[in-house]
Amino acid sequence: MQLQWLRHYNFLIFDETDSTNAEARRLVESGASGNFIIWAKSQTHGRGRYGRSWQSPPGNLYMSILLDSNRFASKQQELSFVTSLGVYNAIRIIGLRNKQKLNLGLKWPNDVLVHGAKIAGILLETIKTHNRQYLIIGIGLNIDNHPCDIDRDTTSMSAIVSQVPEVSHMLDVIMSSFEHYFALWQAQGFLPIRHLWLQKIYNPKHVMTVNDGRNRISGIFQDIDLNGAIRLKLASGQIYTLSAGEVFFGHV
Ligand code: BTN
Repeated sequence: MQLQWLRHYNFLIFDETDSTNAEARRLVESGASGNFIIWAKSQTHGRGRYGRSWQSPPGNLYMSILLDSNRFASKQQELSFVTSLGVYNAIRIIGLRNKQKLNLGLKWPNDVLVHGAKIAGILLETIKTHNRQYLIIGIGLNIDNHPCDIDRDTTSMSAIVSQVPEVSHMLDVIMSSFEHYFALWQAQGFLPIRHLWLQKIYNPKHVMTVNDGRNRISGIFQDIDLNGAIRLKLASGQIYTLSAGEVFFGHV
């Protein structure tokens, strides 16, 4: 581990916890201050987006970055793009070391795909207490195994590279990469992050269907706007903008 990033964070390691995001929340509620990295080797109640569960057996990476976000409370959502770029880049680095060119891509808002299958998920949660604002960024990366009994394609590092990295090494590479994009974001704002993110989107010309919680709307991906909302061109020519929801490829 290079652990350069350690000077910016307190680092907690658990053999098992319910959820590293829940652990982060408890830290804040108990009055802890500062930034933390929480790493668990397995989770009993890992959670995903939309109230789904995130299967968390040993062998994969489960971590949360807890940030004191008071300085950037109105822009916390942008960290979703910063984080997915960090995870994308970390996987790319491992692929290069294995001399393997991976067909990597990002899916709005923050999934990382390899050959079209989800390898990592990111869950952002905010918490306000003691008059301060905190952001919890939960990252799950399939390394040794991936779920097969869910309704979408998933994959893991072990399925795509010959030399599978240690979980601790993956955490280190992700944090170094996250710190790089976080520094860029702090210095120059969302524009360069948006630009980099758009270059890495998976299958941009595909028809995509978004679910806004009530309706499903299909269209051709246009871009993401300056607030990170996705914009699709509908068959009518109209542009549809969605700031929170889920994306599927094709007509669903
Ligand atoms: C998704 O649904 O795509 C997001 C999955 C996020 C899973 C990670 S694992 C570490 C952290 N702790 C949790 O309970 N969830 C996130």
